[in-house]
Amino acid sequence: MFRLGVNIDHIATLRNARGGIEPEPVVAAGIVEKSGGDSIVTHLREDRRHIRDEDVFTLKKTIHTRLNLEMSINKEIVERALEIVPYQATLVPEKRAELTTEGGLDAIKYFSEIKDITAELTKKGIIVSLFIEPDRKQIEKAKETGARMIVIHTGHYAGLFNTGKAAEELRRITESAQFARQTGLEVAAGHGLNYQNIFPVAAIQEIVEFNIGHSIISKALFKGLDKAVREMRDAIREGRS
Ligand code: PXP
Repeated sequence: MFRLGVNIDHIATLRNARGGIEPEPVVAAGIVEKSGGDSIVTHLREDRRHIRDEDVFTLKKTIHTRLNLEMSINKEIVERALEIVPYQATLVPEKRAELTTEGGLDAIKYFSEIKDITAELTKKGIIVSLFIEPDRKQIEKAKETGARMIVIHTGHYAGLFNTGKAAEELRRITESAQFARQTGLEVAAGHGLNYQNIFPVAAIQEIVEFNIGHSIISKALFKGLDKAVREMRDAIREGRS
């Protein structure tokens, strides 16, 4: 058994590029749910560059599966999350200038903040997961925070995949997943996973959830472009006749 969480942030990026309402993240979420997505993943960033507060509130009201809110440990974001009350909250590191999340949250360095935030979120019934590197010390500390889950950062593995040098990183991911499971943590994985590099990660039985965004939205564009062009030609043809 496994779950697929689909990150829909790129839908909001595209919408915001025009400043209008199209494409709507909530419509994307509906399609994801209909086609087998087990959760809707979205990152409410401090700079609100893609998903905005109102999107998250709408998603919370309308989706039938699980809302997994990725969030930094910034005070304002934590307060927002406590208002939203997502099904799941994934604590991630966040830097303003980064294009996407660049690494795992440091559960050792930020231990006391993470522990307090985890307690606050858990009190509200939210399942807390920590997005961390595949590292034993990070996992031990993550367990101590009281979080129920970890999401193993697969970004380095994904970056190495096409160089043929990913074996060592895959081994770290495998061992980390096994160790985390032994400690009683539930294990997810995400970042940079695509239609080529997913297979070895999917083979790790301890990983029960895969959170994927960029590759799915990218594939959706090319899977849908043919139909979109045809429908526009049909519309023009109809308008002319
Ligand atoms: N999991 C976490 C914790 C993330 O921060 C992200 C990116 O928002 C993803 C999964 C999805 O990564 P990608 O878009 O590379 O599939």
